[in-house]
Amino acid sequence: MTDRPATLVAKLARGHGLSPDEYAALIDARTPALADELAGRAREVCEAVYGDGVFARGLIEFTNICANDCYYCGIRRSNRACERYRLTREQILACAEEGWQAGFRTFVLQGGEDPAATDEWLAGVVGNLKAAHPGCAVTLSVGERSRESYECLRAAGADRYLLRHETATAAHYRQLHPAAMTLQRRMACLSALREAGFAVGAGFMVGSPFQTTERLAADLAFVQEFRPEMCGIGPFVPHRDTPFAAEAPGTVELTCYLLSLVRLAHPTVLLPATTALEALDPRGREKGILAGANVVMPNLTPPEHQGDYALYDGKPRSSAGAARKWADLAAQLELLGRRLVVDRGNPMKEKTYDSL
Ligand code: 5AD
Repeated sequence: MTDRPATLVAKLARGHGLSPDEYAALIDARTPALADELAGRAREVCEAVYGDGVFARGLIEFTNICANDCYYCGIRRSNRACERYRLTREQILACAEEGWQAGFRTFVLQGGEDPAATDEWLAGVVGNLKAAHPGCAVTLSVGERSRESYECLRAAGADRYLLRHETATAAHYRQLHPAAMTLQRRMACLSALREAGFAVGAGFMVGSPFQTTERLAADLAFVQEFRPEMCGIGPFVPHRDTPFAAEAPGTVELTCYLLSLVRLAHPTVLLPATTALEALDPRGREKGILAGANVVMPNLTPPEHQGDYALYDGKPRSSAGAARKWADLAAQLELLGRRLVVDRGNPMKEKTYDSL
């Protein structure tokens, strides 16, 4: 028997970790009232650590060419219907320049596992970004690579790396990916990234096919244990040209509940209100922030390519420039009593939080 939900919430909020069974009990006990209670506590904890600031990351989706064949993803190798593109170095730098002018101080270079994105080429782009915008942070999100590759990219000046673990349960990982991909390798990459000195982002989808309460609880236990500096959590959204086309999407409600739990389990984590939330609900971003997220990642990819970086159906697109996006976000956040800050938004050290 696990404790009552209120007891578990109190335990979590006091800074105690929960067991997988306790997380599972909290997930299954969810009601609108419990969700509100968790969200309120998550916002309090977020404010105690980071204040009222929300950090912006300018997302540059620089290639949709991918060697992998993940069953859920619209840019998987087997999708012949996907129009492939790769931005040039100059195009990437132009996106960042416009973003910098608008206020962005972190750039996220995200792409499929494109063989053309060699260490040498990526290291060069990172160097160019750092030279053009002294003081900016560069985040890479380019998948599984060798330890040597991660060390090379880190040495080139990249600060952070996003690689979602997708699910912490090996059997579930096998149901979402072809046999060539393993959870063991994914976890080894996350460790190698940390050892190379990156601030590391893990994360998972909510409502992915074959997910169960126990499997979600394992994801929470993993986050509690590994303590990634960032954690991307978004609903699964089916893509029409994938094996999961007919699967049901995840929900905004459960995703927000998990955002709150992650904020309480790991107070210093940087937690984005993900684009997939917006794909399911025009108010998805606000809901994510109200549940304990403190990062937004507007898309700075040139409008003519945004439609081709389609990981799932209904991904929001906007041809607005970076300055317009910044202004709209700032206004939206102000209505929530929050501030969009011109700041790199580095992860807060655990120590700092303990001494609050
Ligand atoms: N629905 C939601 N998220 C997806 N991702 C990939 N495909 C989908 C989808 N269909 C997420 C994965 C990946 C990140 C870049 O996007 O979690 O790590």
